[in-house]
Amino acid sequence: MVVKPKIRGFICTTSHPEGCEENVKRQIKFIQSKPKFNCKKNILVIGCSTGYGLASRIACAFGGDASTIGVMFERPATKKRTATSGWYNTAAFEKMAIRHNLYAKTINEDAFSQETKNKVIDLIKSDLGKVDMVIYSLAAPKRTMPDSTKVSSVLKTIGKEYTNKTIDLSNNKLSEVTIPCASEQEIEDTIKVMGGDDWKDWIEALKKANAIEDDAITVAYSYVGPEITFPIYADGTIGMAKKHLLKTANEITNTMDGIKAYISINKALVTQSSAAIPIVPLYITILYKIMKAHNLHEGCIEQMYRLFGEKFGDSLNFDEQGRIRLDDYEMKIDIQQKVLDVWKSISDDNINELADIDGYWKDFYEMFGFNFSNIDYNKDVNIEINVPSIG
Ligand code: NAI
Repeated sequence: MVVKPKIRGFICTTSHPEGCEENVKRQIKFIQSKPKFNCKKNILVIGCSTGYGLASRIACAFGGDASTIGVMFERPATKKRTATSGWYNTAAFEKMAIRHNLYAKTINEDAFSQETKNKVIDLIKSDLGKVDMVIYSLAAPKRTMPDSTKVSSVLKTIGKEYTNKTIDLSNNKLSEVTIPCASEQEIEDTIKVMGGDDWKDWIEALKKANAIEDDAITVAYSYVGPEITFPIYADGTIGMAKKHLLKTANEITNTMDGIKAYISINKALVTQSSAAIPIVPLYITILYKIMKAHNLHEGCIEQMYRLFGEKFGDSLNFDEQGRIRLDDYEMKIDIQQKVLDVWKSISDDNINELADIDGYWKDFYEMFGFNFSNIDYNKDVNIEINVPSIG
């Protein structure tokens, strides 16, 4: 099949298998260009197939020689439809891992379910014995609860609605968006999906099954961002879920003797999840422009190298709330002041000068395996690619 991008709103409904492989190979190459580091050796990555989870898995496997078990929720190809990019990324990751004699297996099932947890535990026990690190990098729109009811996360404000600029990604023009207020139920549901309950369930299940080392560490990802995004992020429904995640980190550390849980605040980046948040994509295009001009720009893989190769390797530093700050460059005072100045003055007339629209779209297309100059997108490609450990 000849595979072309098909964009619907903030998502691309097709993915290119060879392009996704290229994307993974470039991330591996980046890690291989850096000094090797010491990290935990038997790692479970929950949400391993795209964005920060994929970059974490690549960094630890290729930079720290770690064995990895991944959990993802991706769709394989059919005769007529491409797989999701996360599926192709994982196929490529496992292929490269095998080539480098690295253990890597993946479970493609709903991470929230107890059956998935049992399956992963069985795999850990038979292949690795125990895990010594759990990376929780889930970004999910909904969750099926143990009683089979379904809850959804929403991206809404709390208290009062919020109006600000945004970018309309269908035409790269500025528009205004008003984000509605969430109901109590929506806040509660977003916490159930994106908060820490499931993270804790995983660690408890692993501990109960004796499948996690006593001195294991676990890390989950969060975001803070600048004031312009507070109503939709830090003070919105997703922010409440992230507060719950932080509370859960403290609970895990305080109650599961020996296991330490961390929150890493990562940089705002184009991923399938962040593209869905109103206002944030405009902020990202401005931020990219300024961070690139200051030579401070990083993608997921650079961030994850810094986390596992540098921060966890040396003595860890924390902010006043006990969080690791990987958004330190993004939040530099001069960078944020420049973002704010641009935010105030940006218009349709100067958007191409002041914001990195091309950079945004480059990352967006690459996420789905498109726009790599060394891939021939007019060529027929086999879309039915296996993930080696899934078949
Ligand atoms: P992403 O959308 O690229 O990745 C989500 C991952 O979760 C994928 O591997 C997907 O297969 C998996 N997944 C989703 N639902 C699942 C389910 N039910 N069962 C099993 N796997 C499932 O997201 P991204 O952006 O990498 O986010 C990861 C974490 O990083 C999130 O907690 C997010 O809030 C956080 N973060 C993201 C930032 C950004 O700018 N993208 C910034 C700071 C933190």
